[in-house]
Amino acid sequence: GILAPAPGLLTGKRVLVTSGPTHEPIDPVRVLANRSSGRQGHAIARAAAEAGAEVVLVSGPVSIPDPEGVRVVHVETAREMQAAVDAALPADIAVFAAAVADWRVEAESASKVKKGEGGPPQLRLVENPDILAGVARRVDGRPALVIGFAAETDDVLGNARAKLARKGCDLIIANDVSPASGVMGGDANTVHLVSGSGVETWDRMAKDEVARRLVARLGEMLR
Ligand code: CTP
Ligand code: CA
Repeated sequence: GILAPAPGLLTGKRVLVTSGPTHEPIDPVRVLANRSSGRQGHAIARAAAEAGAEVVLVSGPVSIPDPEGVRVVHVETAREMQAAVDAALPADIAVFAAAVADWRVEAESASKVKKGEGGPPQLRLVENPDILAGVARRVDGRPALVIGFAAETDDVLGNARAKLARKGCDLIIANDVSPASGVMGGDANTVHLVSGSGVETWDRMAKDEVARRLVARLGEMLR
């Protein structure tokens, strides 16, 4: 197969990528967060730009630099990410690599929560909007290709197939993120491409390489 996208493969195309975690505030000093580093999403944004696309990267809080040649919108929360995604559309391809927090605290405290006689605080959580599903289900202005990720610790392929159907996207990139996999925060990834036409498993490789191969594949799929 193709190892890297041909130069100019995505010239004239608009690509939207989400990446990183979201942070959901508990109070002014505390957040609910997750271990996503943003490496895979950022690598996809950069690879798309190298293939000639006009790229908007909507990124949650990460410690890695903005990729070159990409417009980056920095957000904190899932709701901010959703608003930034809506503002960045239309796009030809949308890749949702962010590890969006599934829940936020219903009522953020305006002041720092203190220890006290009441014991530990009971946090009431509410579900965040599903940004990917919202875009994939659009009637007007749906990107031609909507790509999701499925980070799983159990039954990777079963969960990925279910997500493909539930969210209405064209392709799910599934990976095993159990601690032993070293994927969270690491440089390498083993991914399964799950679509209506079946499952394709790629060898373990650097996240940059996954990104280049994925962009090459998306260019083919768009044709
Ligand atoms: N996603 C999203 N908005 C959310 C939750 C998830 O856009 N609020 C996107 C992710 O970016 C990813 C895909 O949906 O591309 C799957 O995310 P995942 O967390 O695996 O799926 P969930 O539907 O949240 O299911 P669960 O976490 O319970 O497995
Ligand atoms: Ca989730």
